[in-house]
This record gives sequence, C-alpha cells and structure tokens, in this order.
Amino acid sequence: MLSLYRIENGEVQIISCPPQGIRKGEYLSIEDTSTEKSLIIQVVEIDYANVPGILEDILRRSSIHKVNGEDYDPLEIKSYIELVKDAKVLRCKIRGALTRGEFTDDISWIPVRSRSRVVGIPDETLLKLINPSRLLPIQIGRTQKKVRVDIDAKAIDGSLNIISGKKGTGKSHLAKTILLGLIDQGGLCLVFDINGEYTKLDYKSSGERNRFQKKMKVLIPGRNFKVDLRYAGLGSILSIMRSVMDTPGTSTWEFRRIWNSLERRDAISIEEIFRSIDNINHEYVREALFRRFQSLVDTGFFCDDPKSNTAFEEIFAEMNMGGAVILNLKDLPSMIRKIVVEFVLSKLSQLLKRNIARAVFLFAEEAHLYLRDTYWEDIVTRMRHLGVFVTFVTNQPETIKQNVFRQSDNIFLFNFTNENDLKAISRASRIDGYTIESITRELPAHHCLMFGKVTRDLPLVVGIGRLDIQTQGETRFFFTPLETTPEGIVDKSTQNNYQTALQLK
Ligand SMILES: Nc1ncnc2c1ncn2[C@@H]1O[C@H](COP(=O)(O)OP(=O)(O)OP(=O)(O)O)[C@@H](O)[C@H]1O
Ligand SMILES: [Mg+2]
Repeated sequence: MLSLYRIENGEVQIISCPPQGIRKGEYLSIEDTSTEKSLIIQVVEIDYANVPGILEDILRRSSIHKVNGEDYDPLEIKSYIELVKDAKVLRCKIRGALTRGEFTDDISWIPVRSRSRVVGIPDETLLKLINPSRLLPIQIGRTQKKVRVDIDAKAIDGSLNIISGKKGTGKSHLAKTILLGLIDQGGLCLVFDINGEYTKLDYKSSGERNRFQKKMKVLIPGRNFKVDLRYAGLGSILSIMRSVMDTPGTSTWEFRRIWNSLERRDAISIEEIFRSIDNINHEYVREALFRRFQSLVDTGFFCDDPKSNTAFEEIFAEMNMGGAVILNLKDLPSMIRKIVVEFVLSKLSQLLKRNIARAVFLFAEEAHLYLRDTYWEDIVTRMRHLGVFVTFVTNQPETIKQNVFRQSDNIFLFNFTNENDLKAISRASRIDGYTIESITRELPAHHCLMFGKVTRDLPLVVGIGRLDIQTQGETRFFFTPLETTPEGIVDKSTQNNYQTALQLK
C-alpha cells in the first residue's frame, strides 16, 4: 500500500508498506478525493523507512543466535516488525497535476492528507498524457514496464536536441533510431559521421538491403564528394580561410580581389588562382595565400571541374520523400574535417535561404572535434531560424556550451557516473539536478532518461529498442573471437565493417 507521508521543499515522501516493486523513474498520482484533483509525482529515490526501533531489532537479531532458547513473542509483533523493516520511503518530485483529467502545471496546492489516495499511474495513461496527438510517431523503445514508447516527429521539428551519456551506452543507436524515424516521416537529414558508423543504415543486419536503400547517400570527402570552386563560391572559401586557416585580413582581402577579377573574366580555376597569387607583389601576403590555397587544394576536396561537383540541391531533390546525406568524416585529418563541415554548413544556409529545402535535421556526433566555437551560437540561433534543427550527440557533455544546453528542447541522457559530467548536465538542464543525478547514475545500458518537448517536460525512462541494421563504428577490441576465412583472420565482432576487418595474412 502507498501512503502520503509528507511534502517538504517540493519533495513528496510516500511510504510503501508492504513494499511494491516500484522503480526509480516511475510515476504516481496522489488523488485528492475532496477536490477531484491529483498531483502527478515521479519517484526519484528509494530508501528504507528509518522507523525508530528497527536498528535495535536488527542488532538484537544478529546477536540472538548466540543465546540458546526460543524467540519469545507473546504479542506476536514479529511479523509486524518484519513488515515495517522492509517498508520503503519513495522520494518523489512533483511534475504536474490533473484537474478533471486535464494535465496542468499548476502545482501551487497540496492535497488533503486524510482524503488522499496514492496510486501508480499505468504507463499507457502516462504516455497518453505525454503524447496525446501521436500524429507522426517514431517508435523508439519501451518503458520499464515494457509499454511501447513513440515520440512525435513534431517534437523534434524545429528543436535542438542533445543525446549524451558515457561511452558505449547507446547514444548513437538512439540517434540512428530517431534519424530513421524522421526519414520514414519524410524528413531530410544530414549526419556529421565522425566514426563512419551511419554508412550502412540501408542494410539489414543479415546483409540484405532494407527500405532505406534509395534514401541514403554516403559522401566521402575527396572521393565521391568534391566541390567545384565556383559552386563553393567566394563566401564559403573566404570563411574557410578565415576561420579554419587563420588567414590574416589583408590576405583574405587580396584573395577576394583575385577571385573577383578572375570571375569577371570567367576564368576561375585552381591554376589561374595560383598564377594570380604568384603575381602578388607583397611577399608576406603572397606567401600567406600561397600556403593556404595549396592546403585547400591538397585536401582533394576542391576541384575546378563542374562534372566532378557534388551539388546538394540535386541530392536533396532526389530525397524529397525523406532521406539522409551521411557525411563520412572518419579517418580525415582534423583540418580537412573542419573545412568540409564549414563548407557544408555555409552551403546549407544558402540553400535554405533559397528555399531549396524546407528544413534539414542535422545529426552532429562529437561536434567539438570539427565545429568552430562561433558556429555553436550560429547553429542554435541563426541557422535554426533558417531550418537547421540539430541533434548533438556526445559522451563529453562539458564540450557543449551551457547556453546551448539551456536552449535545448529535448535531452536524452544515458548512464553517467562521472561527477563532473553529471554536474555539467545538472547545471544546464531544465529539470532538477537531483533527478538527473539520481536516475542517470543507475540507468542500465540502452536505457535513457528523456525530457523536453518529446515528453511535455515529464522526465521518462525508456529502454531503447533494437534496430535491424548493420552496426559499425564500434570500439575495436583485441580480445574478441577470431574466425579464419579465405581472406585471413577476421575479427567477428566487427566483421560487418569493411574498414575494421582484422587482416592477418
Ligand atoms: N537499444 C539497443 N538495443 C540493442 N543494442 C544496442 C542498443 N543500443 C546500443 N546497442 C549496441 O550497443 C553498442 C554501443 O552502442 P552505441 O554505439 O550506440 O553507443 P554510444 O553511446 O554511441 O558509444 P560511443 O560513446 O562509443 O559513441 C553497439 O554495438 C550498439 O549496436
Ligand atoms: Mg556513439
């Protein structure tokens, strides 16, 4: 049975005696029969009820076996003490209220204790409260009691999302689940894939193709992803030179002059730009530009052949029923990664300004590795207004600036044990730090605590479902089963991944 014990400083304590199998993260309702209102509360900590006398009883029992004789219990209070000993105190946070079935966040009242009844809220009821419309469902997993959880694609639309948690807990897996759900709903997605692990989402785990076959385009910079200088445009090249290559102002000014003069003659090419740079009188500027432009050309990403150009508008046009461009940044030197990302983001802004696409859902894994400092602000403000809706995925939450965290609409947290990580998240989240620390510290693998627009701000523990896709980008281990094949010895744990197959001929 559940009984209301006390409400203090926003914390509600419920006594569970005899204890029921209630877990952290579950929701209860305190129904006030005198007003037809209920408080919705969430269990965030579970302790034993420290009733006076229990310690004495435990001590007495642990010493009793040394004394010969029988336990004398004339008043038969033994079973009562056993019951009390197991009683639990559920520490809960108030999350909202129900007034005649309507959810409200008016929690400025407390229930009458003598007229209150505490009951569990069935997951089905809770999920209906959280996501009443279910118009564009994306199935992501199940509650702790195995009830199916869908999120509404509309709650991701226009939102800034953060997926965080310690290594190997299932962050990328959730990102892929949401990505595939968005594609199913007709969304256009772009992934900055730092580990090359989104490149086979269009294959089932058995190796056959799946329904995403024609909806994925993997771009490998320098291989099947090159841009013609004219397509890139002066603006993108200058911003790369300035922010990625630290080019001084006088030199960028000179580059602009060269570009404009070549453009007037319709003569922009790598060779002509080099020739013009060579003709610069000022030695310092000539040297500075030469080295930078040489580095740009050496990336193999820029070309002057329109036939080799990758035009985003064409790819997007093919994906008008939903799709994803996967930008494989795996194994690229850090500078090339930054150049490619800078180019893609500036191109994306241009295309959205020209209404080439309505919006793009951008998935950025470990963005601090390639996103320059000033872009964070840009992404959550200017680019968001243009229609770039980002999901940041990271196992280092402190790399996401506090103000980015604060502006997030949805947060998905997997297990965290590191104090600093927990503090970084607690400081910046919209729900209280106590809830975050208490629940995420004990989350099992593949389970997350999610809150924000997707849950109407009610924190919810969800076990993320499996995906029938080829997994890649997992950590490669030394001690894994090896299989001998005609090609050599293959690491079975990563045998789907053509790049991590261990070949020992
Ligand atoms: N819900 C799930 N069901 C089944 N397997 C899962 C689930 N979530 C993750 N996995 C598997 O667990 C492993 C780790 O998952 P994932 O790569 O998503 O973790 P991560 O948190 O992104 O790790 P990292 O910090 O290394 O990027 C992968 O093999 C993945 O396929
Ligand atoms: Mg990952």
